[in-house]
Amino acid sequence: MSPQQLHSWSVDVLARVESALDEWVPASAPAGLGEAMRYGVLDGGKRIRALLVVAAAEAVGAVNTAVGREAALRAACAVELIHAYSLVHDDMPCMDNDVLRRGKPTVHVAFGEAQAMLAGDAMQALAFEVLTPDAGEGLGVPPALQARLVRLLARASGQAGMAGGQAIDLASVGRSLDEATLREMHRLKTGALLRASVQMGAACAELPADTPAWRALTDYGHAMGLAFQIVDDVLDATQPSDTLGKTAGKDADANKPTYVSLLGLDGARREADGLLAQSLSALARSGLPSEASGALAALAHRIVHRDH
Ligand code: IPE
Ligand code: IPE
Ligand code: MG
Ligand code: MG
Ligand code: MG
Repeated sequence: MSPQQLHSWSVDVLARVESALDEWVPASAPAGLGEAMRYGVLDGGKRIRALLVVAAAEAVGAVNTAVGREAALRAACAVELIHAYSLVHDDMPCMDNDVLRRGKPTVHVAFGEAQAMLAGDAMQALAFEVLTPDAGEGLGVPPALQARLVRLLARASGQAGMAGGQAIDLASVGRSLDEATLREMHRLKTGALLRASVQMGAACAELPADTPAWRALTDYGHAMGLAFQIVDDVLDATQPSDTLGKTAGKDADANKPTYVSLLGLDGARREADGLLAQSLSALARSGLPSEASGALAALAHRIVHRDH
């Protein structure tokens, strides 16, 4: 899949994701909470995690059934809700203290700290509600698949995933970590959710976890998850704020250990390129036809070569 084909494929997928999020994130939540939630999650971001869910679902043929398509759309929205919640909390004064996100004031700047905390909490809960529709809602998702999707997302969000990685991040300010510890922090705070995105897409075809295709897709997600945060570190040090839509240079200012502080810009870029090669070789050994995994391959290039 060429970059142009990836672009038109993404436009199509994201139209469905945006309209589902618009429908599912309620403006009517009490006392302004809905407004803060919608501000934090709608019309924003690259939606890389949603794209990974749908690309993985396509790779394994999940999108050939209406139920598989519905499950993949729900998983794509759920992971974006968790991600958006993590950003709202990450930006708060008690964490990274950022005032700009996705080109606008952060949620706590626009709505106050308490509302930002609640908006994050409510988005996290909504993610799991979206994954577990009632029998009468939409086409329905089989209960066993709902449970598998919930478990994958919960694992990747909590202490063994994003929240655990964020705890390491906060405990590491002003310290220089060795590469193994830094890698673990990045794999947890960011990598886990990207890897879960790929796994959730694959789960939508009820792909068993002990198959070569599942293992290869997991390896792909593992490599891309780490690469994504390494590139985020590089972009923080190299791109202006208006390209990023968030304040540039924050990592050095806040004295955070990153791949750039540890290996330098060239070293960090080489690391990301190595992970791109690893992710493509994982796809090659997955046994999936290369037309089917074309979107995953194109997304890997985009993740490593993006400019924001
Ligand atoms: C930013 O993620 C935070 C990280 C985990 C590195 P993204 O770069 O995916 O942010 P959006 O969703 O596009 O705004
Ligand atoms: C974010 O890492 C990881 C999250 C889990 C939100 P960063 O703190 O580097 O993300 P940005 O640079 O603020 O987007
Ligand atoms: Mg942070
Ligand atoms: Mg941050
Ligand atoms: Mg960053």
